[in-house]
Amino acid sequence: MITALLALQVLLLAAGCGQSERSEPASRIKIGISVYDQYDTFISSMMDSFNRLVEEEKSGGKQITLEFYDAAGSQKQQDMQAREMIEDGCRAICINLVDRTAPTTIIDLARKNNVAVVFFNRELVEEDLLQFDKLYYVGADAFQSGILQGEIAAAACAGRDNPADRNGDGSIQYVVLEGEAGHQDAIVRTETSVDTLIKSGVQLDKVGYAIANWNRAQAQTKMSQLIDQYGDRIELVLANNDDMALGAIDAYRARSIDLQDRPLIFGIDGTAVGLEAIRSHEMAGTVYNDKDGQAKAMLELALRLAQQEPIDDLDMIDGKYIRLPYTGITAKNADEFE
Ligand code: GAL
Repeated sequence: MITALLALQVLLLAAGCGQSERSEPASRIKIGISVYDQYDTFISSMMDSFNRLVEEEKSGGKQITLEFYDAAGSQKQQDMQAREMIEDGCRAICINLVDRTAPTTIIDLARKNNVAVVFFNRELVEEDLLQFDKLYYVGADAFQSGILQGEIAAAACAGRDNPADRNGDGSIQYVVLEGEAGHQDAIVRTETSVDTLIKSGVQLDKVGYAIANWNRAQAQTKMSQLIDQYGDRIELVLANNDDMALGAIDAYRARSIDLQDRPLIFGIDGTAVGLEAIRSHEMAGTVYNDKDGQAKAMLELALRLAQQEPIDDLDMIDGKYIRLPYTGITAKNADEFE
């Protein structure tokens, strides 16, 4: 996280964040990017990756100026940042919407100024993406992440006398820690993960759920309350992301509950901290959310759009979407990821 923040600060300085750079030579490619919250672990690791790739392009001779902005959870602020990027001469901008249902101001600005927009990670509805021909989306398939989490969890919970069923009642008592209400990855991941477990033949018994907004500290508080309510009845925790799974682990650690007396805990993302928890067996599994692939696709698309180069050879769905695949991770293959 610290590396990410330092990198972002360097970029903010490099970009002069918001200062006009109209004196740039014409050969410079200028792109802008705004994230919904720079303190989100997955987003900050994706930005690390993005910055690394920009540096590689620069050392390969491309003259790129990148303007980086943090919307800090405010859609209004992000709308202003988009305006600023466009006024500064960015020909393509990358937007990680704060409110995925409110892209209209940014789309109107893009249309009026004929600027391309690559939305990423927080998916707007298709109707909005079709409002203008220079709008694109880079992300992943939320259904796939839920299915993979469900499959990994089912493998750990299935079968007679499985250790996950600690009270031996033949069904698995579970809780869900959900991301932001209304986020495509929260709704879909929960539904498909649970459906996959059921289809795999695991008897499930839902005992509780809490919304923790992708956030580790919030998840620790919510998990602590669930432990107060349900104690050792909880045998399985399905978290919509790694940070919330880690928050659940923090709650058990804070009570000095030994690993063998904790439920199986699953996350999604495969962040560096998540992978560490898999290696120490505190997290039973996660699903790799391909930050590098998404950063690479986003940069490639933005650079081409900014230079008005063709994009038809890119691996796109309906000429609008690029979705990178997820991969399941357990202690067995955790070392293949970083
Ligand atoms: C999800 C990711 C979460 C969080 C969220 C932000 O794809 O799994 O950890 O970063 O995006 O929109």
